[in-house]
Amino acid sequence: MSKLKIAVIGTGLVGTFHAEAFFRNPNSDLVAVCDVDKEKVNSVAQSFNCKAYEDFTKLINTETLDAISIATPEQIRIEPAVMSVKKGLKILLEKPLGRNLEKINELVNKIKDHNKIISVNFILHEDPRYKLMKEKVKNDEIGNIVSCFARRRGNRFGIEIYAPWTDLLSSTLIHDIQMTMSINKSKPVRVFAEAVIRECKEYDSHDAVMAIMKFDDGSLASFETSWVLPKNQPEPLDPALHVIGDKGSIIIEGSSMGLQMQTETNYMKPDIANWPTIDSKVDGCLKRGLDKFIEDCVFDQKPAVNLQAALEAERVVFAMKESIAKGIPIDINIS
Ligand SMILES: NC(=O)c1ccc[n+]([C@@H]2O[C@H](COP(=O)([O-])OP(=O)(O)OC[C@H]3O[C@@H](n4cnc5c(N)ncnc54)[C@H](O)[C@@H]3O)[C@@H](O)[C@H]2O)c1
Repeated sequence: MSKLKIAVIGTGLVGTFHAEAFFRNPNSDLVAVCDVDKEKVNSVAQSFNCKAYEDFTKLINTETLDAISIATPEQIRIEPAVMSVKKGLKILLEKPLGRNLEKINELVNKIKDHNKIISVNFILHEDPRYKLMKEKVKNDEIGNIVSCFARRRGNRFGIEIYAPWTDLLSSTLIHDIQMTMSINKSKPVRVFAEAVIRECKEYDSHDAVMAIMKFDDGSLASFETSWVLPKNQPEPLDPALHVIGDKGSIIIEGSSMGLQMQTETNYMKPDIANWPTIDSKVDGCLKRGLDKFIEDCVFDQKPAVNLQAALEAERVVFAMKESIAKGIPIDINIS
């Protein structure tokens, strides 16, 4: 079997993990990486033994590829995605799909008829706890969902690093919104959200958000998210998902998966779930999601989250933003 020839556009935090995972995966051949930051891209290319480009147009037009992964900030999605579609490539898109609904709709309309896989990287689907939860819900082991509660509290690095160019709902809570939507048999019909707007006011976004969402079958989901916790809090990310059914419940808590470490100076609950470095290699559900993309491409499997499912989650995100701005519940019409 020939290896999947793949390249990565954007070699920041997450794109470097993409490059590493594709470099190590026995079914893929990392051909090239691309970033406008010359120093960064050269260093990643050297680490993972591939070519470096500073211009994605040049990369896509020069290399013979089977697939591409687009890990740029969400402001830069449409152009590389459309070019990749024209070249007939399989595509992994980082979430979210864009900075506003207009651009997201433009992206989706331009690429939705592509006849190759387009997968959107919602990594919780490869966390074994969420995976098992989805299976139990699907097999009717907790009955019909009555309510879900999702929490995703980050620390202040979020305000420092992410607030200047993205926002809490689009970058962070979208994972939980998409996950609750993926396990519910019906679609969301209404959301109401309130926000705390202090330090993020200068970015026209939110420090913290609480929201409630109603599904067509009458069930509810509530959400709490923020990025204001101290940087030295024991668990860098404090997530949860509680699913309550009429025959049982499933509770997922934390990203440390129960691991606690006490030294003479520190108490830590390190991330084991998302992208821990173990044995000097990226691990966790991000890495498993990237491996799944390669597997989906090689064995022609369906992605966990396709373009349509990602679009539906985006519509809820933007309904929440509208609810915060107007102070009223917003109806959602996802047919
Ligand atoms: N799936 C997940 O769990 C997950 C986790 C983290 C980030 N993300 C998403 O991934 C995206 C990137 O996030 P990040 O934290 O890696 O950001 P980052 O700022 O660390 O990296 C983005 C990189 O893209 C590069 N870039 C910008 N414009 C470019 C262009 N025109 N061509 C090539 N490279 C360009 C930048 O120089 C930078 O190196 C965001 O949309 C973010 O929401 C997803």
